[in-house]
Amino acid sequence: MRVFVTGATGFVGREIVRHLKQNGHEVIALCRKPADLDVDGVQKVQGDILEPHLWEPQLREAEACVHCIGILRAFPQKGITFEALHYQATLNLVRACGKVGVQRYIHISANGVEKNPTTEYMRSKAKAEQAVRSSSLDWTLLRPSVVYGGSQSKESFVRLLRSNLAKAPIFPYFGKGDYRLAPISTWELAETVKRCLDRPDTKGKIIHVGGDEVYTYKALLHLLIESGGYKTKLFSLPTFLMSTAAGVLGNFDWFPMTKEMLQMLLQGNDLPPQALSQRLLEVPSISFRAWLTHGILEPPSAGVLPEQASQGPTVTRPLQPEEGE
Ligand SMILES: NC(=O)c1ccc[n+]([C@@H]2O[C@H](COP(=O)([O-])OP(=O)(O)OC[C@H]3O[C@@H](n4cnc5c(N)ncnc54)[C@H](OP(=O)(O)O)[C@@H]3O)[C@@H](O)[C@H]2O)c1
Repeated sequence: MRVFVTGATGFVGREIVRHLKQNGHEVIALCRKPADLDVDGVQKVQGDILEPHLWEPQLREAEACVHCIGILRAFPQKGITFEALHYQATLNLVRACGKVGVQRYIHISANGVEKNPTTEYMRSKAKAEQAVRSSSLDWTLLRPSVVYGGSQSKESFVRLLRSNLAKAPIFPYFGKGDYRLAPISTWELAETVKRCLDRPDTKGKIIHVGGDEVYTYKALLHLLIESGGYKTKLFSLPTFLMSTAAGVLGNFDWFPMTKEMLQMLLQGNDLPPQALSQRLLEVPSISFRAWLTHGILEPPSAGVLPEQASQGPTVTRPLQPEEGE
């Protein structure tokens, strides 16, 4: 299939481009700086998502679209806002897909959108989802938890934590550190996208994407320290102190966290209990612990893990609509 991928130079998008290419798809990759995409054999289109005339002609050549553009921090003084990069960008793409006849559309959203959104990040993500859902496209919404893995050259939440823990003799968690995370690998997320393209029964579905291993933030920090062999000592920082610091300093890009990012971390990021997830698509699981300790980021062969192979053939379960959707 010929697939148009946005955010192709990003942490998530580049792995989706690589994975689709490896699995026989042709990829048309939207990039602001094509030189930043180090995947061979893909057609690169230079353009900004907010200027549809730059990429609409190449979108017309595609049979499906995967949207991976997003921001974690806004810088309104530079014109980088959640409204523009989450909502307007999605609206532009959904409208353009409708206009040029690209019917199949996969949208990377975020786990937590289903809760009552309390941050601009989540509000704009929810608004973007609504634009997708009210379109006439054959859409699938993917809501990943925190994603790890990918290219060494790309920043990610886990990589940032690891490099800070490697340097710091002491490191804070906030409050009790008991908020939960379900880290998911870039491989599993990319494989989920691939399976959605393969399976027409994922059209009109919302699929949460999260790992089998769920950690509290404090347990995750301990695991990072243990697997890296660091000597770092953890301490609890009262949440109100971090919130005050992030509220004042979070507007500067050198400060690692905004007040909103802290708020989202404290809300937790494990999957809702009734959620339809990538497990129903039989995406093989990668162990977060195994990735940390042995760097394993892909299942051993042909998408079948040894323990699954020994259990005999897996049964394809039909997808059920998510409760409350
Ligand atoms: N990473 C996670 O843990 C995680 C978890 C849940 C959901 N998500 C979602 O996954 C998606 C991708 O996240 P990510 O971590 O890959 O982010 P990322 O590494 O920051 O990548 C963002 C991508 O968007 C592109 N982009 C930004 N503004 C653009 C514009 N105006 N026009 C065209 N392209 C533009 C960037 O291009 P440049 O390279 O030119 O800047 C980059 O390719 C987002 O929707 C995010 O909310 C991520």
